[in-house]
Amino acid sequence: MSEKKARAVRFDQYGGPEVLHIAEVPVPAPAAGEVLVEVRATSINPGEASIRSGTFMPGSADFPSGEGSDLAGVVTRLGDGVTEFAVGDEVLGFSLRRSSHATHVAVPTGQLIRKPPELSWPVAGSLYVVGVTAYAAVRAVDPQPGQTVAVSAAAGGVGSLVVQLLRARGAHVLGIASPANADWLTEHGATPISYGAGLADRLRSAAPDGIDSFIDLFGPEYLQLAVDLGIARDRIETVISFELAEKLGTQHKGSMDASTQEVLAEVADLVATGTIEIPIAATYPLDEVAAAFRELEKRHTRGKIVLLP
Ligand SMILES: NC(=O)c1ccc[n+]([C@@H]2O[C@H](COP(=O)([O-])OP(=O)(O)OC[C@H]3O[C@@H](n4cnc5c(N)ncnc54)[C@H](OP(=O)(O)O)[C@@H]3O)[C@@H](O)[C@H]2O)c1
Repeated sequence: MSEKKARAVRFDQYGGPEVLHIAEVPVPAPAAGEVLVEVRATSINPGEASIRSGTFMPGSADFPSGEGSDLAGVVTRLGDGVTEFAVGDEVLGFSLRRSSHATHVAVPTGQLIRKPPELSWPVAGSLYVVGVTAYAAVRAVDPQPGQTVAVSAAAGGVGSLVVQLLRARGAHVLGIASPANADWLTEHGATPISYGAGLADRLRSAAPDGIDSFIDLFGPEYLQLAVDLGIARDRIETVISFELAEKLGTQHKGSMDASTQEVLAEVADLVATGTIEIPIAATYPLDEVAAAFRELEKRHTRGKIVLLP
């Protein structure tokens, strides 16, 4: 690739994964306070699929639109005034410009931390969205050691981290997932509970003394279930069903509630020390971004799907 050209995911209209393509674009110039990162790994998230299909924040895309916020890579150029990072530093962090699904991205230094050497590129490039969202969701219900917390979509990108953060705090975890994820949940200290008919009864039998908190990572039916189970509304959190959460008076924290270098560093340290892991479900070359989203949009990923530019 020419040094003056980058490659980036683009879409020119709302639609399915087929609207995604790779464009040759100018290498972004880092503005003052920014650095240019050569991206080694970037992850995909359901929110990006919803923006691309036009169902989330409809009308918010400027075409041609880029996408992506997670990133890990190597600093290759410094904008004016940058002293926190040097050329050659390995970093991880996030873009808020829908731009990280690319070979190069310009990023404000406040959205980056140094990549701990223990983290592989795929893990580092997966850390931001799921890491800070899981952190915000767990902090919202503030579980105490010995309390019981139910989690829907417990083995997905966010869920796999929520489960481990809860266990690290000494909570009992009821992980709601398909039987295919039961072994993973058991190995990570959670009690697997299958979703589908009879779920409320299975949850009650698994926690005869009651469920203290509920973290919903899948959809409104779980928020309603949490209320029906009699859990206090300030101990119920959803990262998705914001409208229903407002109506029911439950919590609805998300990634923007914890998008700081401090939280990123704390989660990265938990991974680096082996306290938690980020399962990598699959890696795809950037050119296969549409296939990567087709897989994600089946909604049965365990952990993260990663693009390697
Ligand atoms: N507010 C925010 O800032 C924020 C940030 C990140 C994500 N989110 C949202 O949070 C949600 C989860 O994100 P994610 O990255 O974890 O997604 P993901 O990795 O795609 O989650 C997939 C998981 O959903 C589970 N699942 C599928 N059908 C289910 C059902 N009927 N009931 C319960 N679980 C089911 C799957 O488990 P099985 O394979 O076992 O079926 C799989 O583990 C998405 O809606 C996303 O948009 C919000």
